[in-house]
Amino acid sequence: MNRSAFLLLLAALAACTTSPPASSSRPTGTAAATLAAPVPAATPVVAEHALVVSAHPEATRIGVEMLQRGGNAYDAAVAVQFALAVALPAAGNLGGGGFLLYRGADGQEGALDFRETAPAAASRDMYLDKAGNVIPDLSTLGHRAAGVPGTVAGMWELHQKRGQLPWRDVVEPAVQLAMQGLKLTEKEAAGLNRTRADFARFTPASAYLKASSWQAGETIYHPDLARTLAYIRDQGRNGFYTGPVARLIVAEMQRGQGLITAADLAGYRPQWRTPLHGRYRGYEVLTFPPPSSGGVALLQLLQMLEPYNLRAAGWHSPQATHWLTEAQRRVYADRATYLGDPDFGRVPVAQLLEPAYNQRRMASTLPYRATPSAQVAAGPGLPAYESDQTTHYNIVDARGNAVSCTTTLNGAYGSKVVVAGAGFLLNNEMDDFSSKPGTPNAYGLVGGTANAIAPGKRMLSSMTPAILTRDKKLALVVGTPGGSTIITSVLQAILNVVDYGQNAQQAVSAPRLHHQWLPDQLDVEAGALLPAAQDTLRARGYQLNSRNAWGRVEVIQVLPNGQLEGGADPRGDDTAAGY
Ligand code: DON
Repeated sequence: MNRSAFLLLLAALAACTTSPPASSSRPTGTAAATLAAPVPAATPVVAEHALVVSAHPEATRIGVEMLQRGGNAYDAAVAVQFALAVALPAAGNLGGGGFLLYRGADGQEGALDFRETAPAAASRDMYLDKAGNVIPDLSTLGHRAAGVPGTVAGMWELHQKRGQLPWRDVVEPAVQLAMQGLKLTEKEAAGLNRTRADFARFTPASAYLKASSWQAGETIYHPDLARTLAYIRDQGRNGFYTGPVARLIVAEMQRGQGLITAADLAGYRPQWRTPLHGRYRGYEVLTFPPPSSGGVALLQLLQMLEPYNLRAAGWHSPQATHWLTEAQRRVYADRATYLGDPDFGRVPVAQLLEPAYNQRRMASTLPYRATPSAQVAAGPGLPAYESDQTTHYNIVDARGNAVSCTTTLNGAYGSKVVVAGAGFLLNNEMDDFSSKPGTPNAYGLVGGTANAIAPGKRMLSSMTPAILTRDKKLALVVGTPGGSTIITSVLQAILNVVDYGQNAQQAVSAPRLHHQWLPDQLDVEAGALLPAAQDTLRARGYQLNSRNAWGRVEVIQVLPNGQLEGGADPRGDDTAAGY
């Protein structure tokens, strides 16, 4: 075969691999082939030395103060976590848990798991009735929904290992905040008013409930919470897990038939896990291992998407959306089957992160047609597992230490139970277990035996703190709340920066898309897709679902000149500040 015949054959082969099936609606013309959405302009905060991005201005302010007083990113993280427990009751917490990922300026890294655990008295079918059906609300509302809190033990552990300032100094600002009270933002006042009936039912004596509606600008005081924080300040971990605060938690459990005991509290331990590593277009991606499903899913998604030229396809163009959605559909099917607490069974992480495995998963993607989720199951042949509120903060200090932490009560205000006399809300994290195989939880996520309830076990999470480096230098710190949407929001923030060259604020503000296998629908935030792109996607077989804004993504990007660029999510009261 001569050279031109060979080139012709190559061109024909290339045409075969990209030509649509007869039933597809391949777009014609350049404009139709692109239909990229415009990326809204947005201005990031830029700092010379250090930057904090969190979901509340007071928490961000306290974090920056810690850094300016000579604290490192770990001191600031502890201070921000406790400040959020006061300032952001919907998600900031003492009575919940979280995942904190760090990368030190020295290149050391760590993944601290302070996820809640199922109480010792928990059992697989504890949320089912005699007929085996899920009892509505039992895993989301009230005392039985609460797992053993991990936050205080997690902060103590982090500070013991990496902190620099005295423990008392990093807890004190939150004590002050609780004592002095703080002004409610419009969103917080609305959130508390929305939850009024639940507070009245579960916590009639708490600071969150008052006779009339809360107004924006009104001051809320937390004397009980201030006392609890003072115990923690003075006694560290023990100030929460033993002594007066622990006794108040146990009394609260007895009042509402909850399961957490003094032994559960005294026995709670955070776990150091080994961070997961992946690569994407020249970046090293560091993220959280199980019991987060988010890290595995994020690295699978990046592997699946790397072969496609997303940039050339155009931001949120039908073609880019098609690749994104097909990858998400397949990864969430794997999540439902294989992911659970690694301390209770084997999670096939290495197999899920095999490049060949993820290539095979994407091979079933049709070029111009949605694959119905009914035809997508978890990838076959892997060893089986045997056996609307969260918050995120990012911190980079002047030395280059980076922290990415997602922390949660699960739903907004968790179980809605405030521990009487102690002033803090308990989580409703038990709902992140799979109460019954195949029955969706509050986020529509399904699961199986890998995520079944067992005493002491950690419920599967989607929280996905992530840190990207390039040539061993810090490049990007990312994370968000949002339940099942966390993984796809973190993914899109990364793609927005890496593939589309957006600044940190654009990457956060830009409207988002989400698909999670089941239900088989593509969630579309206003402005995420051009109307014509929506038509094209519908013609390809996608079910589009307009959905109100979700997620509160926080991003810190290190610029080539070493400056730090922060993006705080305008969907909330999120704030970036530094010096
Ligand atoms: O760990 C998880 O995946 C969930 N408990 C997170 C919940 C959440 O992000 C709610 N936020 N809007």
